[in-house]
Amino acid sequence: MQHGRLITIEGIDGSGKSSVAQCLVKCLEERGHTVLLTKEPGGTELGGTLRTILHTQKDRVGDVAEFLLFAADRAQHFEQIIIPALAKGAIVISDRMADSSLAYQGYGRGLDREMIKKINAWAMQYQIPDRVLYLRLDPASAHERVRARHQTLTSFEREGVDFWQRVSSGYEEIFAARQNVITLDASLPLASVCTQACDAVLKCI
Ligand code: TYD
Repeated sequence: MQHGRLITIEGIDGSGKSSVAQCLVKCLEERGHTVLLTKEPGGTELGGTLRTILHTQKDRVGDVAEFLLFAADRAQHFEQIIIPALAKGAIVISDRMADSSLAYQGYGRGLDREMIKKINAWAMQYQIPDRVLYLRLDPASAHERVRARHQTLTSFEREGVDFWQRVSSGYEEIFAARQNVITLDASLPLASVCTQACDAVLKCI
């Protein structure tokens, strides 16, 4: 039986997921909760290796193979990290999860979305996040933020504006039909997004 809570943070690159995740952890820990912060890809050793492959492979990884690598990461992540943490009653916060595959590989790359949903559910041992925090930001502002970081761009960040637009519209479509999603305006100052994120999570624990 599941005792903990599973919270995921989603949004396009540059929407501030990692910063919001960190301040959310701080806010919950200050209130005495046991929190585990993790991410996809890269929450496990296998995930770290897959992340390196996805970011550094010279031959472009094909679309289906790309999705299956994310799915393999997800399966390992659930088995090794998420299921045990939920069983111990922790609040698990994951920077990206299944909806990233649906938005990036489903809408961005155009893969079969029903197949993605099926494999995601299997990889996640049929767990559903208690809350999804969606950081909504328009693709142009997100693109600008990512470029201003002056870091090496990942293969996804190097994609053209059409790809970013498809991913962004994909997120909107996916979340319009869901009950467990809290949409936050990611163009607001970080402190304000954090307060809203923390309030939303406190209501579901
Ligand atoms: P990462 O460097 O971890 O970026 P971020 O901190 O923004 O999450 O790279 C993750 C990239 O992988 C990001 O551009 C989104 C993409 N991604 C997918 O395309 N599908 C997925 O299922 C996941 C989890 C991530």
